[in-house]
Amino acid sequence: MTRLGGKVAFITGAGAGIARSAAELFAREGARIAVAEIDAASGAATAQRIREQGGQALFIRTDVTQEASVREATDAALREFGKLDVLFNCAGGSLIEDGVVTEVDLDAVWKRTMEVNLLGAILCCRHVIPRIIAAGGGSVVNMSSGAALRGASPLHVYTAAKGAIVSLTRALAGTYARGNVRVNAICAGRIQTERNVRKYGPAGFGGGSSVDRQGASERVKDYPLWVGQPIDIANIALFLAGDESRMITGAAIPADGGRSAY
Ligand SMILES: NC(=O)c1ccc[n+]([C@@H]2O[C@H](COP(=O)([O-])OP(=O)(O)OC[C@H]3O[C@@H](n4cnc5c(N)ncnc54)[C@H](O)[C@@H]3O)[C@@H](O)[C@H]2O)c1
Repeated sequence: MTRLGGKVAFITGAGAGIARSAAELFAREGARIAVAEIDAASGAATAQRIREQGGQALFIRTDVTQEASVREATDAALREFGKLDVLFNCAGGSLIEDGVVTEVDLDAVWKRTMEVNLLGAILCCRHVIPRIIAAGGGSVVNMSSGAALRGASPLHVYTAAKGAIVSLTRALAGTYARGNVRVNAICAGRIQTERNVRKYGPAGFGGGSSVDRQGASERVKDYPLWVGQPIDIANIALFLAGDESRMITGAAIPADGGRSAY
């Protein structure tokens, strides 16, 4: 038996990284997938790969920071699949130019980071939650970060955006429980995505276990367990998306190899 059989999931940023891993996993677990991604080549490739593996997926070019784009994407997903049960707000990330509030560029960094991480999630909730309610209820999973739990100095803008995601998650959970919609957040530590490997290099991920830290950078040593793979977060998103987690709403789940625990 599959864990998301019969469900339709709208997943943002699913051309790469964590969201791509989740899209493929959700599809293997029986969900039909709306791949909402700004990059046409990678989004189409994810949908194609899911179809080649026997799943159902539609790529919809979507810019989560633009309300018209989100509205059109939601409509396109509904036309294709007839309903929406799950929203995984995963598009986002930090900019290399992020920094301290006294120095950070307000247009290029503050505005862009807030738009893709926070406004994007708000717009997708605004347009997808009413459809989930119309389908009888379901689940929203928001990507936050360990930065929301401990403060990622000096990434002040990213930290603020991901902290707001946790607060938003709690508020939405309280509001929409009556519509049978659960809303939870995942606070991920560093994950070995392609983008991060380009950013940090191999030393940023050295040490596949807590006892094997040869070649690991100092920052990796801050993780009591280990830094994760995209599938580690996809597995948590799968649990939150499906009915096994039906008692959980308004939670912000740390998935950071223990980094925020001490
Ligand atoms: N990778 C990590 O270490 C890590 C840690 C904690 C939290 N996160 C969060 O997890 C999420 C995914 O991170 P990732 O590392 O897998 O990212 P990634 O960069 O690998 O993939 C992000 C995807 O989002 C797409 N995207 C960007 N802007 C978009 C927009 N406006 N509309 C639609 N799609 C857009 C990109 O094209 C890309 O395909 C982000 O919200 C990030 O902040 C990541």
